[in-house]
Amino acid sequence: MSRKFVAIILSVAVILIAAPAAFAAPDGGALYKAKCASCHGPDGGGMTPMGKAMKLRDLRSPDVQKLTDADLTKVTSDGKGKMPAYKGKLSDADISALVAYIRTLK
Ligand code: HEC
Repeated sequence: MSRKFVAIILSVAVILIAAPAAFAAPDGGALYKAKCASCHGPDGGGMTPMGKAMKLRDLRSPDVQKLTDADLTKVTSDGKGKMPAYKGKLSDADISALVAYIRTLK
């Protein structure tokens, strides 16, 4: 086998392995259920024991929905009060998928 042929096979293999991971969009709904629903509730209403104790605002309410995507992204990545910061734990793509998901709750 020529070296060139081996090189081609290897690059095709790398592309096939790497591509789905790079192009698969994160699932905002699944991330939300895994990371956020414990406080904010599965429907965003914040009616969990944790959410009630922290007096969470309903993510579906106009007060929260009127915030810009940039605001929602900032709260999620930097945290706010008792809201944990997710920067470093979630990628930017994960956080934008979450923001998009919060928009679907209303
Ligand atoms: C440990 C409980 C907890 C978890 C888990 C949590 N949050 Fe929060 N979240 C809070 C609290 C408390 C606030 C209110 C912060 C404040 O205004 O002081 C908040 C506020 C927010 C806000 C702003 C809404 C508002 O009332 O101004 C957004 C957006 C938000 N959270 C998104 C998320 C997302 C997305 C996740 C999952 C990645 C998440 N939160 C996970 C506790 C939590």
